Amino acid sequence: TMKITVIGGGSSYTPELLEGIIEQQELLGVSEIWLVDVPEGQEKLSIMEKLARRMIRKAGLPIKLTATLDRKAAIKDASYVITQIRVGQLEMRRSDEYISLKHGVIGQETTGAGGFMKALRTIPVLLDICQDIEKFAPDAWLLNFTNPAGLVTEAILKHSNVKVVGLCNNPINYYKKFSQTYNVNMKDISLTFVGINHLIWITELYVKGKSRIEDILTGVSDSYEARNIPSFGWDLDFLQSLQAIPCGYHKYYYQTDRLLEQQLEQYRNHETRADQVRKVEKELFELYRDPSLDEKPQALEQRGGAYYSEAAVRLMTSLHTDSRDIHTLNVRNDGTISCLPEDACIEVNCVVESHRVTPLQIGYVPPQIRGLLQVVKAYEELTVDAAVTGDSGLALQALTLHPLVPSAEKAKAVLEEMLEVNQPYLPQF
Ligand code: G6P
Ligand code: MN
Repeated sequence: TMKITVIGGGSSYTPELLEGIIEQQELLGVSEIWLVDVPEGQEKLSIMEKLARRMIRKAGLPIKLTATLDRKAAIKDASYVITQIRVGQLEMRRSDEYISLKHGVIGQETTGAGGFMKALRTIPVLLDICQDIEKFAPDAWLLNFTNPAGLVTEAILKHSNVKVVGLCNNPINYYKKFSQTYNVNMKDISLTFVGINHLIWITELYVKGKSRIEDILTGVSDSYEARNIPSFGWDLDFLQSLQAIPCGYHKYYYQTDRLLEQQLEQYRNHETRADQVRKVEKELFELYRDPSLDEKPQALEQRGGAYYSEAAVRLMTSLHTDSRDIHTLNVRNDGTISCLPEDACIEVNCVVESHRVTPLQIGYVPPQIRGLLQVVKAYEELTVDAAVTGDSGLALQALTLHPLVPSAEKAKAVLEEMLEVNQPYLPQF
């Protein structure tokens, strides 16, 4: 049997994943898909179950589908487990954004105080899931999409024995974008990524073996723009002296004042990203409910995570077929980036074999990248420790160190309010 288990199966992103699995069925040979969720997500799960049945029927495939709230049964003997959960759901994402902005700091799902709080809520749950995997499916690969994906994956790498890789849709979206720009296949594009999840720099761009990164650094061609991050563009003097293509999330660091100003305006109008996503979700579930819908609707592309399934399904296919090709993944550093700890989780190109994922050596990182990278990684290290121990001193140090939090005083105020509101989700504190 080839069993895929999706934890957070009721997510509005699931049709995307199903579409990907269905497309790759010839190579994957999936016999069972299990969608699992928590009781609060039961209604979404049942809508998703029906839609999944319609999609599988339309494709005419002999895949057995099960939707359940029984996580252990869902994990048992799985070949691949995908985690795409949101502890506290959108309501707590909104709370993260609003508390941050109330104190005048960037409020964002994965970056800064918002990502910090999400990590504290999420890490205990993920480690719990990992215990089930260790027990009921010790040979399974865990593909973690749960945000903040790098931070959460680092916690798993440090505190469990599960075979895990962290995944994000950002890298593959650069391949998509540049293959359109240069009108070539994705396999004709070669990118070097340096960094950690949602803080990756592209230091090399080759098209059919020819370096084209200067096209981007001089503004001749555009880079990929994510749906969930506002776009103010990049200053060309800045890009050329950086000598690397920043990712969308870099705007929070390199253009903090402009983004903060815009976020504060959205906050005053009750229109933050969580508010927007809430509307999109409502619209999506209306569509999913429609018994005549039997494919992924176009409207899903409004979400920042569009095409994440392509990354997931390609990776599963490579693992499954022992393809030894290259994917950009969140894995243990092990000396790949020499200025970061051995046990840090990084996001870089890796060779994928069926039994292991090996990062390709980077070595030296120039100071303009190294400085920010080391600080944010140290913040992540402290956050993992805080999430695992429930030590509020570590939490305060983590948040104070984050470049988007201006002072210890502010960090303390944000932390106190967040810990209070999140009490039901923080067994460790
Ligand atoms: C990006 C990130 C994802 C994130 C998503 C947010 O693409 O890579 O990790 O979950 O955007 O999108 P949303 O529509 O929820 O704001
Ligand atoms: Mn991501």
